[in-house]
Amino acid sequence: MATEVGAGGERKRGVDVAIIGGGIIGLSLAWRLAARGCSVCVLEREEIGSGTSSVAAGMLAPVSEVESSEQGRRALALALRSAALWEGFAQELEAAAEASIGHSQAGTLMVARDEDEARELERQLELRSALGLRASRLLPSEARALEPALAPVIRLALELPGDHSVDPPAVLAALRSACERAGVQLRCRSEAVGLEQRSDQGAERTRVLAGVRLAGGELVAAERVVIAAGAWSGALGLLPEQVAVPVRPVRGELLWLRDPSGSAPLRRSIRAGRVYLVPRSDGRVIVGASMEERGFERSPRAGTVYELLRAAYELVPATYELRFERVLVGFRPGTPDNLPLLGESALQRLYLATGHFRNGVLLAALSARLLCAMICGEALDAADAQLLASCDPKRFAAGAAGPGS
Ligand code: GLY
Repeated sequence: MATEVGAGGERKRGVDVAIIGGGIIGLSLAWRLAARGCSVCVLEREEIGSGTSSVAAGMLAPVSEVESSEQGRRALALALRSAALWEGFAQELEAAAEASIGHSQAGTLMVARDEDEARELERQLELRSALGLRASRLLPSEARALEPALAPVIRLALELPGDHSVDPPAVLAALRSACERAGVQLRCRSEAVGLEQRSDQGAERTRVLAGVRLAGGELVAAERVVIAAGAWSGALGLLPEQVAVPVRPVRGELLWLRDPSGSAPLRRSIRAGRVYLVPRSDGRVIVGASMEERGFERSPRAGTVYELLRAAYELVPATYELRFERVLVGFRPGTPDNLPLLGESALQRLYLATGHFRNGVLLAALSARLLCAMICGEALDAADAQLLASCDPKRFAAGAAGPGS
């Protein structure tokens, strides 16, 4: 499918698809497209995964993250479908890369530390029961039998056996390797600064997308372009006016602690309110995460680190003895309705794969599947087609009926 493209007097051998952004979303799509025989080039401004992908905690947690609003239920449908796809996605990726991605299927415990949180947890259980989700109520003694490191103050717990996790740096390394083996061109330090258009050869003499201009002047000729630049997608400075990408950064700080013995004090992920602890098989415990509207502020704050450590200690006192390894700051790509932007934009052949908010890792499997089918012109079944429609980027275009319509 490679194309010959002329733009501004240049004639270059083009790729079928250029993807702007080398994070988990962009790489997953690149890998899937290459498997369909497309030539693909990923353009990454910095290094592979240097945005938010390597900061993410890697929870595949549709049941933990569910919210009761109408939008929350749409997000749940996407999350459940992607969680189901992750089973096969993880296996295929590990086989393609010949590497582990740290896929833990030990499940998650949501816990309450006091009476107020216990009442809230009862409400959360009712919501999950009403939605037909797998969650069971545990007495404190039952929770501590499953996870002996839990604090004695725990009042109540819910067990969510279907909420799993992966290790994002390992996923990125595997995707990188799988992409390279599949023939994807991965170009780091390649900043996209413009979209090129050319006159169509056809009778209507319309302008069509011709590729991506890089800082430095090079044109990467491409038949189609996908923007998968996470929280930076709306601020690339290359989008034509008719393409609305209302994505904003929702800042999150997250900590890496490590048990020097090489074995974390937990098997399951633990959550209380917005705080979570995610164990890794190499002895790390990931503690997250703040939710802050502070733009792209990169410096960690002492107060946030303090709050996260305090919460971790309250939930699992053994964290006090762990080695403090790292503070990370990431930027979730938030949208006005908290649903992703997935599909063709108002500019023909320009696609968006962004706005995954708190669930970029979880939604990578589904996003790659849906957008790959759309780009390759493959039919989706009715359920997947409906999921894709719920993410239509044109819902935010000028004159559109608006989100939820
Ligand atoms: N999904 C976890 C977070 O965004 O912090």
